[in-house]
Amino acid sequence: MRGLVVFFALFVAAPAAADVLIGRSLWMTHCSGCHGELGDPIVPGTPDISRGVGADSSNRDRMKIIRNGSGIMPPYSEYLSDDDMGEILAYMVTLYPQSSPSGLHLADPNL
Ligand code: HEC
Repeated sequence: MRGLVVFFALFVAAPAAADVLIGRSLWMTHCSGCHGELGDPIVPGTPDISRGVGADSSNRDRMKIIRNGSGIMPPYSEYLSDDDMGEILAYMVTLYPQSSPSGLHLADPNL
């Protein structure tokens, strides 16, 4: 149910809905095994995005972790293009309870 609500909210309101939807599909392939479909972690030690853990990180720092990995999380820079990682991030940030689609900063030159 929550997934549906998120889905429709993105579809209607997000300026970059297409990126978010592509990001969701990549997230399901590469990230959801540990982080869960909606950020509710499956593997112990993974931050609970659905409860807002890490919500105050910057997208720049998140991108660094996606590129380089951290702890048991593998680095993705060799498997995914910058565009793919940007799309994944666009989806990921919608999972924080504090986020809103208009809070996306896809044009951030620091990403
Ligand atoms: C093998 C399990 C695993 C996979 C697969 C995985 N992660 Fe992670 N992720 C983790 C863990 C564990 C941490 C916490 C790392 C730490 O504490 O050093 C983490 C942390 C993060 C963070 C930092 C969160 C914060 O609070 O700042 C981001 C961003 C992230 N992951 C994104 C992703 C993305 C995007 C993918 C897929 C491309 C992915 N992860 C795949 C386990 C995983």
